[in-house]
Amino acid sequence: MNAENRATAARNLCARMQSVQDPVIPIVGEMVRDNPGTISLGQGVVYYGPPENVYRGIEAFRPDPENHKYKLVQGIPDLLQAIQGKLSLENGIEVDARNRVVVTAGGNMGFMNAILAITDPGDEVILPLPYYFNHEMAITIAGCTPRIVPTDETYQLLPDRIRDAITDKTRAVVTISPNNPSGAVYPEEDLRAVNELCRARGIYHISDEAYEYFTYENARVFSPGSIDGAGEHTVSLYSLSKAFGFASWRVGYMVIPESLLDPVKKIQDTNLICPPVICQYAAVKALEAGRPYCIEKRAEIEDNRLIALRELSRLSSGVTVGPAQGAFYILLKIDTDQHPVDLVRNLVAQHKVAVIPGNAFGVEDTCCLRVAYGALRRDSAKEGIGRLVSGLEQLLG
Ligand SMILES: Cc1ncc(COP(=O)(O)O)c(C=O)c1O
Repeated sequence: MNAENRATAARNLCARMQSVQDPVIPIVGEMVRDNPGTISLGQGVVYYGPPENVYRGIEAFRPDPENHKYKLVQGIPDLLQAIQGKLSLENGIEVDARNRVVVTAGGNMGFMNAILAITDPGDEVILPLPYYFNHEMAITIAGCTPRIVPTDETYQLLPDRIRDAITDKTRAVVTISPNNPSGAVYPEEDLRAVNELCRARGIYHISDEAYEYFTYENARVFSPGSIDGAGEHTVSLYSLSKAFGFASWRVGYMVIPESLLDPVKKIQDTNLICPPVICQYAAVKALEAGRPYCIEKRAEIEDNRLIALRELSRLSSGVTVGPAQGAFYILLKIDTDQHPVDLVRNLVAQHKVAVIPGNAFGVEDTCCLRVAYGALRRDSAKEGIGRLVSGLEQLLG
């Protein structure tokens, strides 16, 4: 592109998109590609793929020529039924006259559907800090303002601070438990407090439960959508990406108040028409394999977690290791003047290990790094963590 074309392109970028942060994963991905042999503790994926029986789902899809046509916006009936059974059994969420399930092409699409359905440009959505960058980006893309609220020193919610941040423009409070990027799992009591606050103030509680199967030791997940009467103001988001090694298959689902069904269908019809039907057939089978599939695969991730916690604890007192109760992330808080992006660049270039800089999650006043330990087999994870620890020891002097 020559200078004149570049200038025209810059002029044509709308202000709304210019205010959206660049997604960080591809930036770190480029650093990794430029430094062959780098072990990535960056991307939030699992090391395993889907259960074998999903291919039986694909066989079931094949014979019917009708399956190649557009299907229902909301999802195929067999998958909706399987999801409702799972929600009732595992999450305590009953789908009745007051709420609906919509299958989406992943959890991110569920979040975007929710934001577009409940906001007007100029509205505010509350995000506890650190936030998941795609949530912040979706809110900005919708022309709304993310209202960032601090958490405590172990990244737990501060319901009073959330209450104080609610204004006339607030449309929702977002919680993610188990949390990306902090690894915190929120206790039932706090999620109930946030949900009640949302009910009382006439706003929505968006509860992202993408990591519901990834908890460790005594941590327990709680679905706010299961609270009596919560169905009318709670949006619960789920994903098959992590639990079933389904990241590229793009299947997730949302539970929404009945009143949001029409707006969500308009949005999803426009963006997607219907979630890919072949993947929905596969998803029915993944849900048949269910939670036990994930729990079995999770064992190796639990080992990685223990290795990471043991090795990271060797670092000096200038590095605070986050709670690691859930998901597959550990957030490191580092007492240094270095910018996290520079630190990551040096870790990749000099020590061949990649992590994600904390500024991507909105942490600006401290140098934070997110370590993801779900994507690697045990030996590579061990090697990667070893490189991270010795790299930090050297770079932090
Ligand atoms: C909290 C959270 N929600 C949603 C997603 C997106 O998942 P999906 O692949 O289902 O879009 C992620 C992915 O990292 C995530 O961390």
